[in-house]
Amino acid sequence: MRKYADVFNKKDFLWGSGTAAYQCEGAWDIDGKGEGEWDYFNHYSVLNINHEDGDDASDFYHRYKEDLNLMAEGGQNTYRFSISWARILPNGTGEVNQQGIDFYNDVINYCLEKGIEPNATLFHYDLPLTLAAQGGWLNNQITDHFNEYAKICFKEFGDRVKIWSTINEPRYYSYCTNMVGNYPPNRHIDIQSYFQYQYNLMLASAKAIHSFKEMGIDGIIGIVHDNGNVEVDPISENKEELFKVADFFYNRMILVPALEGKLPDELDEMKQKFNFMIYHSENDKEIFSKGIGDYLGLNLYNRQYVKHWEAGETEIFHNNKGAGSTSLEGIRVKGLFESSFDKKVRRNKWGREVNPRVMYTALLEIKERYGNPLVMITENGHGIYETPDANGYVEDDERIEIFKEFLDYMLKAKAEGVNVKGYYHWSTMDLYSWINGYAKRYGLVRVDFDNNFKRIPKKSYYWYKDFINQYYQSHS
Ligand code: BG6
Repeated sequence: MRKYADVFNKKDFLWGSGTAAYQCEGAWDIDGKGEGEWDYFNHYSVLNINHEDGDDASDFYHRYKEDLNLMAEGGQNTYRFSISWARILPNGTGEVNQQGIDFYNDVINYCLEKGIEPNATLFHYDLPLTLAAQGGWLNNQITDHFNEYAKICFKEFGDRVKIWSTINEPRYYSYCTNMVGNYPPNRHIDIQSYFQYQYNLMLASAKAIHSFKEMGIDGIIGIVHDNGNVEVDPISENKEELFKVADFFYNRMILVPALEGKLPDELDEMKQKFNFMIYHSENDKEIFSKGIGDYLGLNLYNRQYVKHWEAGETEIFHNNKGAGSTSLEGIRVKGLFESSFDKKVRRNKWGREVNPRVMYTALLEIKERYGNPLVMITENGHGIYETPDANGYVEDDERIEIFKEFLDYMLKAKAEGVNVKGYYHWSTMDLYSWINGYAKRYGLVRVDFDNNFKRIPKKSYYWYKDFINQYYQSHS
């Protein structure tokens, strides 16, 4: 019988990479899988601006052994993946699809055969269509449906999976769905839904964490947050207040329930400032108190750089067109704050800051403000356009340079006492980058989507392999 206590027995740190079900599996309608919200959106919505879908994605469903073989050969010893809710429960609730269970059993068993620690996320943006059509995460009955789905996964896979997370990036997911409006069902600047979503996602997570404990599953469970820590532009007025407001907007609705088992103390004050309310039930408080995670997953890409609001209506700045647009990523919230655009900091082609120092500052902040919890870097990577040579090989030196800087900052934070014990590069291989389609590549391994999904490791894959080897040599 596998034991969590053995996970860190021989090694003090896990090194690996990650993917998410909809982004890599493909097989969208086979072996009993139900339709997902993203299947529906990509097939029918005019807002699918890049006209791509995840029908085949990276064909991981049929090629998981090849991907896991490459991981193992690359020295990686942990794999973060997500389970597709609609593959387990085609209608979101009710009848279980045994073929879905079988598929994840195969993936998990093969991980173990290859010496790879499986790290499973229960929900990574891909809602079963039936539940989406009933209001999705705005209908708070979904918190119980999620809990039931989670319990099935714990029962089926809990003997072998020792690292779990409930939900991937509840904050960013809610932001794209309710503020940007680029994720289905595409609500735009809907502050009310933005916060209600986060509340319901956190409540669902707390319920599942409580079930995990009640079922006596051996392992750790937490939530994955997109922690871009807030930094205030020095030109700003009222810096302390500005930080508090922006930190609430970006972080606190997730971090406080996840790490302290309650809602943020400033919630009522913020309801007035942002002008929203929360539908809740009487016993929610108790549920939150029983839903503290064992660790925090952090997806680290960028910070949130803000200044005081100057003028103008609430507006979102976003770029899903890459090089086809010059838009920088950010927001203006009327009367409260707005993004500050620092010209000295690099940006990717999608207008997002690339600022590896933030790995260090975000980790230190979590340590100092939230009692130094166990942390895993569940995602970190760099999206770029890539041109392979005639053999399909990609010399992704730009990725390697940034990758190295991020890792150096993570190890610096670790050396200063941050309790970080794992790193997952995003992503294991090229995959569907949501609304950005397939041109934005993150993989350590190239997927030739036009040539039978051929896998070709990139220069960064070999660089990472050497890095991991050296790490273990110097820490043995
Ligand atoms: C994270 C998500 O926010 O960022 C991933 O968890 C996503 O699913 C990754 O792919 C990169 O974002 P994008 O939009 O460039 O694919």
